[in-house]
Amino acid sequence: MRVLVCGGAGYIGSNMTAMLRREGHEPVVFDNLSKGHRGAVKNVQFVLGDFGDFDFTFETLQKYQIEAVMHFAAFIEVGESVQQPLQYYENNVSKTRTLLAAMEKAEINKFVFSSTAAVYGMPDTIPITEDVTKAPINPYGETKWAVERMCHFLSQTGRMNYAALRYFNACGAGQGGTLGEDHRPESHLIPLIIQAAMGKRDSIKIFGTDYPTEDGTCVRDYIHIEDLCKAHLLALKKLDSESELVYNLGNGTGYSVRQVIDTVRKVSGKDFNVEETDRRPGDPPVLTADAAKARNELGWSTHFPELETIIESAWEFHNTHPNGYED
Ligand code: UFG
Repeated sequence: MRVLVCGGAGYIGSNMTAMLRREGHEPVVFDNLSKGHRGAVKNVQFVLGDFGDFDFTFETLQKYQIEAVMHFAAFIEVGESVQQPLQYYENNVSKTRTLLAAMEKAEINKFVFSSTAAVYGMPDTIPITEDVTKAPINPYGETKWAVERMCHFLSQTGRMNYAALRYFNACGAGQGGTLGEDHRPESHLIPLIIQAAMGKRDSIKIFGTDYPTEDGTCVRDYIHIEDLCKAHLLALKKLDSESELVYNLGNGTGYSVRQVIDTVRKVSGKDFNVEETDRRPGDPPVLTADAAKARNELGWSTHFPELETIIESAWEFHNTHPNGYED
């Protein structure tokens, strides 16, 4: 299938692009390189452009005879979204509306959307199932939920089939450790700990040690990027016959911040300083997925559920790309 990968030069988009290609699809990467890296896109058609530009997006969809769109181009920093809500509404909601309008005009009716566990806010019930009340606690989660609603209503018209995939903590590196996380500035736990292990930062800070968890630090559900991408392929296939798909993507196992730090120590063989600091505002104590729906309906399974394996792949990426992507 000819798939436009919007945000295909970013962390998840570049892994998705490589997997599409590996599986015999024809991905076309569409990215404005505001966050992504040209170096993360290899041997694939690349279009430099912005999905908020209706005319150019429509022309691109037509030119490459696109049959489905996977959309990863979003701003993803929770803290930044609190400071700059309008930028988040503009990029994540308004521009996505433009992309969907261009798809509608081009009569492309398959859309796979990158959503997030942040749509649930601070749920009472753990692990989280898809039907839990959606109560985002920051603009980031709210904008992702707004797009899900937009897709829902569009699907009701019969003109769009969509899958909303709610990621828990995407991590690790795909394609043998060659496609990994390179956010600038970096804010995600695993790459930050690895940078500390590599001596590229003085320490790793633990944001809060007084949470109601076993060791007092936050617990998250870390899911390997290739397992995550695999679910997109399965969802895309199912859109042939279904108009609305919503799935949590996680392993269902929680690891605390301290456990992640210990695992990086073990994998890297390096020691580094750990600083215990105050809580980061807006962090729920525990977020783990109930992903039974994806397993049962998509036939999805994870190949890299072990945190150690996930961190080994990330360690490989950071060691072979000590300064991130070159371009
Ligand atoms: N953390 C630290 N120190 C750091 C960085 C993070 O202790 O220097 C802690 C956080 O407080 C949190 C955990 O490590 O408890 C994971 O933090 P990340 O920033 O790596 O990830 P989040 O769980 O905050 O968010 C991630 C994605 C979001 C997504 C969310 C869904 O970044 O886009 O998962 O669960 F919405």
